[in-house]
Amino acid sequence: MCGIFGYTGFRRLGPIILEGLKRLEYRGYDSAGVAFISSGLQVMKDAGKIDEISRKFNFSGIDGKLAISHTRWATHGAVTQTNAHPHISCNGRIAVVHNGIIENYIDLKRELISLGHKFRSETDTEVIPHLIEEFYRKTGDPLKAIFMAVSKLDGSFAFLAIFEDHPDRIFAVRYKSPLVIGLGDGENFVASDVPAFLKYTKKVIFLDDMEVAVISRNSVEVFNSLTREKVDKEIYIVPWSVEDAERGGYPHFMMKEIMEQRFTITRVLGQDDRIREASQLIKDAQKVFLVAAGTSYHACLASSYWFAEIAGVNARAVLASEFPSISKLVDDKSLVIAVSQSGETADVLESVRMAKKRGSKILGIVNVVGSSLMRISDAFLTINAGPEICVLATKSYTSQLTILYLLVNDLVGRLENAKEEIKRAETLVAHMLESEALLKDIRRIAKDLSASEHIFLIGRGISYATSLEGALKIKEVSYIHAEGFAGGELKHGTLALIEEGTPCIAIVPEDETKDQTLGNAMEIKARGGYIIGLSNEEHVVFDELIRTPSETSLSPIVMIIPLQLLAYYLALERGCNVDQPRNLAKSVTVL
Ligand code: AGP
Repeated sequence: MCGIFGYTGFRRLGPIILEGLKRLEYRGYDSAGVAFISSGLQVMKDAGKIDEISRKFNFSGIDGKLAISHTRWATHGAVTQTNAHPHISCNGRIAVVHNGIIENYIDLKRELISLGHKFRSETDTEVIPHLIEEFYRKTGDPLKAIFMAVSKLDGSFAFLAIFEDHPDRIFAVRYKSPLVIGLGDGENFVASDVPAFLKYTKKVIFLDDMEVAVISRNSVEVFNSLTREKVDKEIYIVPWSVEDAERGGYPHFMMKEIMEQRFTITRVLGQDDRIREASQLIKDAQKVFLVAAGTSYHACLASSYWFAEIAGVNARAVLASEFPSISKLVDDKSLVIAVSQSGETADVLESVRMAKKRGSKILGIVNVVGSSLMRISDAFLTINAGPEICVLATKSYTSQLTILYLLVNDLVGRLENAKEEIKRAETLVAHMLESEALLKDIRRIAKDLSASEHIFLIGRGISYATSLEGALKIKEVSYIHAEGFAGGELKHGTLALIEEGTPCIAIVPEDETKDQTLGNAMEIKARGGYIIGLSNEEHVVFDELIRTPSETSLSPIVMIIPLQLLAYYLALERGCNVDQPRNLAKSVTVL
């Protein structure tokens, strides 16, 4: 939920740090800071946006041997200068930046205060530099002090530490929060996510849980913090370009990533062997669970209809945060299909660990190569959608749907047919996204709806999942309360909410649910509702029509495009921060 970034090398520190933080801003943006060593350890930090803080402290003017930095999404402690990272030891000679939550910080803080340590902030993080200081004082060895400090921490933590006495080394620690090292020539980087340094290197090492890296400009050593032994790490080459991680002329990453769906949907193709391995896992399983959060959960829910209708498989979609409550159903004959764009969502990783303990096999479906989920899965599939920077998931959703569609069809020997249908769906998506008339229509409707307090979306069958995903898009970027629900549920309560002019989007693909959903729309209209139809043809009940192709086999992909665009234009109309919506972060790496 925060972004951390460290650099050691020959370049001027200021510009590198500023650039790295900006590329991580989607992970957290309520305060920022940097610690660097130049005639002693120095710290600059404050609440506010990175650009503001950078100007205030003239980040670009910073220079020295190395630096660690942080952009914060507050979990413990208000958004204040004192609570911003980095945090320092009592003697000010050790600085730490941290992503995660130290669950036992209250006990540790009490213990450290009893030893004479003075705390400045309300954060959980601040116990780390004081712990390290305590053990460094006893051992005189920075690495040993780190090992000992880590052994006292509970919770999730990816942190960087620097010592004034050792101005050539950054210490990096990873446990349940992501941390990746970028390997350069005469320079090295370490960050929460690859885009922070992708411009300089694609050679990366992904740290695993309970690993400590000692990073200098010409070397990287990795240790297991439990055995304290050195470990050899695989070097990955990240398959992304810098352009992938940049805005590419679009006003927002959200629009860029929506538009990229003209060609990202078919990027999942080309992993037939892994698809076959994955479908074998399904065939071998007696129970199949689809586990995810947020948008990824909606992709799972949609695919559960395909599993049932196409393959006759009962694949149960479960919210990752709810998984512990049903985990007793999981056993050594189960398969958990965990879906996560970031591959770092704490609820998903916790569910996977729980499932593994109960003997289940794990199939991971990720976008970020080398992510935690990918590395703890028995088998994995990648959606190859390229970096998704906007907090809102858009292209990753349609790619997740696509890979799940391939998987389901492979179960019944229809892999090649599915590939053709996917190529056709991508063509239809491209036509929609390149239609000026459609974009103009949706922008006009967004303007009309922008003052709405509530927006309802209805769908039946697989379009129920689309209604949930459309609602999530609208609410998380425009802050309008939007609710998706199964059309058949209207009369069971929700109809009471309909008043004169209440906007309701009816998702009406050319499938077996069409007539019933139109019937629901008429019930809403009869009570004053304002009906926006997502359909390939006009209907008397529609006050507005957003024309969609009559594609059916992949309707969740085709139907979500106008809803993503509607959410985007609603946010523009309402002056919302499109790429960094309030209170949200791209990857929820804390429970
Ligand atoms: C979707 O727009 C949100 N950003 C959020 O719901 C997201 O889908 C969820 O946090 C899951 O993220 P993941 O796919 O990286 O696990």
